[in-house]
Amino acid sequence: MESAAGLKILLIIGGGIAAYKSCELVRLIRKNGGDVTCVLTEGGSHFVTPMTLAALSENPVHQTLWDLRNEVEMGHIQLSREADLIVVCPATANMLAKMAAGIADDLATTLLLATDTPVMAVPAMNVRMWSHAATQANVATLREAGVMVLQPDEGPMACGEYGAGRLPEPEAIWDAITRWVGGGAGLAPYPEPTTQDGYQPGPLGGRHVLVTAGPTHEPIDPVRYIANRSSGKQGFAIAAAAAGAGARVTLIAGPVELTTPAGVSRIDVQTAREMHQAVQSALPADVAVMTAAVADWRASDVIDQKLKKSAAAPPALRLEENPDILASLGASDMRPTLLIGFAAETENVLDNAQAKRMRKNADWIVANDVSGGVGQSVMGGADNRVHLVTERGIEDWPEMPKDRVAARLVERIAAAMENGND
Ligand code: CTP
Repeated sequence: MESAAGLKILLIIGGGIAAYKSCELVRLIRKNGGDVTCVLTEGGSHFVTPMTLAALSENPVHQTLWDLRNEVEMGHIQLSREADLIVVCPATANMLAKMAAGIADDLATTLLLATDTPVMAVPAMNVRMWSHAATQANVATLREAGVMVLQPDEGPMACGEYGAGRLPEPEAIWDAITRWVGGGAGLAPYPEPTTQDGYQPGPLGGRHVLVTAGPTHEPIDPVRYIANRSSGKQGFAIAAAAAGAGARVTLIAGPVELTTPAGVSRIDVQTAREMHQAVQSALPADVAVMTAAVADWRASDVIDQKLKKSAAAPPALRLEENPDILASLGASDMRPTLLIGFAAETENVLDNAQAKRMRKNADWIVANDVSGGVGQSVMGGADNRVHLVTERGIEDWPEMPKDRVAARLVERIAAAMENGND
């Protein structure tokens, strides 16, 4: 997104007194050239009517999972996927709890569980509900998963108490949306957090992080291809952790069976050349983490028809080298400030990784030993044991789940960006 004009928002209105302010938010989105479609929960419908929202948004209002006509015209999953951003406003304590637990028992929560679109939640509730350990734990879980949870305002509440829990003013919510758009476009950085809307961008707020993940498939003929055993799990975990730290994340994924982490924009590719092209189009980036196991070679001639067995010898497969995406980024004038490669090695792991760091002009190489024989290596598994190879030397990290490796790497990235790799 380059500007808020044309932004498509799916607005989910939860059941709280602050729901009336969502009408004003609809008006602001429309006034600024955005498009908004409302989903009204059962609770929300006690505070605002579908008629009001339909009139203000000039779009149909969706209320139930069990609407046969809508399900035929536009499935509920498609409804969320067509949006650039889902805004839950107000997000009640109950709604946050369901979102954190993955409960899908109505249209709104089903959409939220099924979506790969970035989600912003704007909480509003009684001060004690907001400060309750359960709500705070739910908010932490959601932020970790990449949901942008705004900070509620402090002040007198409809229930007569005073404290944090008020819905921010619609202008402040709109402002947070436009800042997300600005950061999202890589044109304007995320601003520092303000007390006005309390939006905490996280340690990588304002940064664009590019991640490549998975294998590439290099066609031989219409049904056969060259591939490798990469699952993409480590790269997806890094993309999720970077989004959780507030970065705008572009994930360029080879063919993998993984769901897109919340808050991440994903571009699917098949071949090394497509991945290379997608990486170039996604620049500029502050940080690039190249976890993809890019096929080093492709078939020189891709045959249009399926190759047939014949009595003669098996066909010779002529290969040619693919572009080295990491090395080309290392040499580019648009080289990201922090360029990180992965090195999957089966022998001389550390020497090879050091050499690769220099050869490809990367700042860091995350080296892992993928020996262990066919089907037994870390490729595809849930855990990873890596060594972080930097200019300063080598750190050996203990074996841990891939999402822990990702979290630790993202902490290191944030620290490096803060301390001058900038
Ligand atoms: N890489 C890349 N483009 C390629 C090959 C590799 O961007 N065509 C990146 C990988 O994403 C990874 C790093 O380079 O970050 C190392 O990949 P690896 O396959 O281990 O290195 P190779 O260049 O293939 O070196 P070698 O043949 O010595 O293993």
